[in-house]
Amino acid sequence: MLTKKIEDICNRQIEREGYSSNLYLAMASWAETNGFGGVASWLYVQADEERMHMLKFIRYVNERGGVAIVPALKKPASEFKGVEELFREVLKHEEFITASINEIVALTLEEKDFNTYNFLQWFVSEQVEEEASVRAILDKVKLVGKNNMYQFDRDIMSLRTSQADTQATT
Ligand code: FEO
Repeated sequence: MLTKKIEDICNRQIEREGYSSNLYLAMASWAETNGFGGVASWLYVQADEERMHMLKFIRYVNERGGVAIVPALKKPASEFKGVEELFREVLKHEEFITASINEIVALTLEEKDFNTYNFLQWFVSEQVEEEASVRAILDKVKLVGKNNMYQFDRDIMSLRTSQADTQATT
């Protein structure tokens, strides 16, 4: 059975993962309508992953005798200055999510809730991967500059695939 504190902080994370999904959906939509089909595809996949993260928390809270709250979601921005700025924002957001997950981990230790601690380990690893993949994209965006954005837009999905391959073999 979850303590009230753990239930509440997990519900806070449900809202944050749901917002992440909406944020990346808004970014995908911006990219799609501004000629960056590859960037849009990457973000649509990311938005789905965030929804999956939200679901993982919802199912876990309910399974442990808590009540998961499905939140109203804040409206994300619909305009972005450019692809580099957009990915900077993605990285900033992922760093915020990492800090948020770490805060829950710290609370589980304080509350001696080792089941939730265990559940969170998947998210701890996932955040390392997510931050690394966005940093890799940002490095690439900086390298290509504005002139080669067309090529970058074509390549971005293969970046996701090659990263997944590397992770699978390490
Ligand atoms: Fe669910 Fe990208 O953190």
